[in-house]
Amino acid sequence: MTSDSDDLLSRLGDPERAELRDFAVRLASRAAENAARMRHEGVEVAALKSSQTDVVTAADRATEAWIREELAHERPEDGFFGEESDPTVGTSGLTWVIDPIDGTVNYLYELDNWAVSVAVVVGPPDPAQWQTVAGAVASPAMGDVYAAANGLGATHNGRELALAPATELAQALIGTGFAYAAAKRTAQAESVTRLIGQVRDIRRFGAASLDLCAVATGRLDGYYESGLHPWDHAAGALVAREAGAFVGGLAGARESREFLYACNPGLAALFERALIQVGAADAAELSG
Ligand code: IPD
Repeated sequence: MTSDSDDLLSRLGDPERAELRDFAVRLASRAAENAARMRHEGVEVAALKSSQTDVVTAADRATEAWIREELAHERPEDGFFGEESDPTVGTSGLTWVIDPIDGTVNYLYELDNWAVSVAVVVGPPDPAQWQTVAGAVASPAMGDVYAAANGLGATHNGRELALAPATELAQALIGTGFAYAAAKRTAQAESVTRLIGQVRDIRRFGAASLDLCAVATGRLDGYYESGLHPWDHAAGALVAREAGAFVGGLAGARESREFLYACNPGLAALFERALIQVGAADAAELSG
């Protein structure tokens, strides 16, 4: 984090952080309701992105456009960094990091595990350098809204979250995800085959923001993935951290496109060792 971001973060008092969190909740919840209505009306693929399996729907674009308009109206001085449109730099030092529909493939197939993810950060739009001030993840099909503000804790549907004590690695339920490029996801799947015998079981739910919130609620004991974009994890990582989880990269690095893992801090050393041993981050070198 740069010292400018440090200064800005320390100047934001608890009331301002709480206000940003509440605004993020309103934005994410209303956007999620709109997206759910569009889902009900029918969804088609609008375009392919990085590969034939990396799709964008008209609802992804419309949801991001709606959020962008609300932000331009309510917070014109802030920057914007979203999955589906060009970034803008603001003058306030705050930037909104948006995934309009995380879990797009689930959304397309009418599976419930998708969410709107809204975060506001200080610093450049790079998870290695930013500090997340507040965020919300709204999953209308599952009836879940997660929210957090830096230093103020995390909530699930208004109820405060606090991690239960760590479980052993052999008893841990671990979530992960796969990139869209075939070579990369194949390498990721190979590392899963090496990990699955060391843990309780593996889950692939299909929305990184919700995987991180699942660590916060204890629905998963741990989660890891390489190749995530900043908007996939900005809000979910804050929810997990504020619930008491460890979130970061390997060997003391911050979470990044290269690697992110999250779990109870009591499990972190063993989990990290297992992830390195199975080569979970090796696919980071492959594009996609
Ligand atoms: C994807 C989901 C998925 C993860 C992928 C992400 P998208 O985001 O979060 O769980 O495994 O790496 O790209 O494309 O649905 O916004």
